[in-house]
Amino acid sequence: MRRPALACLALAALAVAATSHAQTQAPLKVGLMLPSTGTFAALGDMIERGFKMHVEEQGGKLGGRTIQYFKVDDESEPSKATDNVNKLIKRDNVDVIVGTVHSGVALGMARAAKESGTLLIVPNAGADAITGPQCAPNIFRSSFSNWQPGYATGVVAAGKGYKRAMTITWGYAAGLETVKGFTEAFEKGGGKVMKDLTLPFPNVEFQPLLTEIAAQKPDVVFAFFAGGGAVKFVKDYDAAGLKRSIPLMGSGFLTDGTLEAQGASAQGLITALHYGDNIETPRNTAFRNKFAVTYKVNPDVYAMQGYDAAQMLAAGLTAVKGDMGKKDALYAAMKKAQIDSPRGKFTLSAQHNPTQDFYIREVKGNYNVVTGVAVKALADPGRGCKM
Ligand code: BEZ
Repeated sequence: MRRPALACLALAALAVAATSHAQTQAPLKVGLMLPSTGTFAALGDMIERGFKMHVEEQGGKLGGRTIQYFKVDDESEPSKATDNVNKLIKRDNVDVIVGTVHSGVALGMARAAKESGTLLIVPNAGADAITGPQCAPNIFRSSFSNWQPGYATGVVAAGKGYKRAMTITWGYAAGLETVKGFTEAFEKGGGKVMKDLTLPFPNVEFQPLLTEIAAQKPDVVFAFFAGGGAVKFVKDYDAAGLKRSIPLMGSGFLTDGTLEAQGASAQGLITALHYGDNIETPRNTAFRNKFAVTYKVNPDVYAMQGYDAAQMLAAGLTAVKGDMGKKDALYAAMKKAQIDSPRGKFTLSAQHNPTQDFYIREVKGNYNVVTGVAVKALADPGRGCKM
């Protein structure tokens, strides 16, 4: 029997609506690709806690959908990034990927996300290319580009009147790009970077490089390290007697989530970052209190970025009532959202990277205490992004 064309169309529309309804009833599959081993393990853990805390605050649902988590330990190992992310994309068929910490791993994830069209929210890794040449409609970041904290710290160092700087970092995207940002601002402010020192990630044999710093006697040292590596570097810098003679500055990862382990060696260090422990807003206070009660530990920048990754996803999902099929509307809502973050409200640049304030922080006890603003509403230049 032949059906009239209009009846066929109506049936097809009903079938689509039924599928879409079934899909919006099913749990949303969230793939967490984070390090749970290695020098960045604690950072991954804090991101996961922050993300889950926001979901719990929403009653365990985003955009009306319950959340089902799938997890992969990326080991901060770039050579395994493609295989690891494909476990989430191809094996688990997740709706959204949240990850990761390490820039080199995140670059592999971004390539796979771009190819597959899976939504990717980066809750830390700053690789400039992710919101530069590798940008894509389905790739968002809740954290920073490496250029941003480097640039902000360069502004602060130049403002202090330092003229001759040395830099030290791991020789991979995060370290090199952060140093580039620092150099740009420091030299614009009248300083000169005399020498860049690097060692391979995640190596912590700092001694030969500290000997070189002692011999060159710069006015200031700028360092990018994070996690376990930052703990060891700050302690070694102090033990080498350098803390007394050559001021050490860094992007705030040098002292974030690390202070208990760094102890006296970190006291008084000045850094710049898009978060500080004592931002006295009701939003930050509520976030910190809830986090401390939930996890029996104080939050750090990584926890805040994980929390905001969930807030960004929530903004998109609420707009489409949980329907991940409405990709254009989902991305448009995420793009235009103003995120009420513990760091302060922020919006996204055209390349999907936070435009945000960078604070000057000083270590006092176990806190990174905000003492001023380094740069207000700093936007990544987004060089090379064509979307
Ligand atoms: C990165 O690899 O992008 C990174 C790692 C730790 C802290 C900040 C950035």
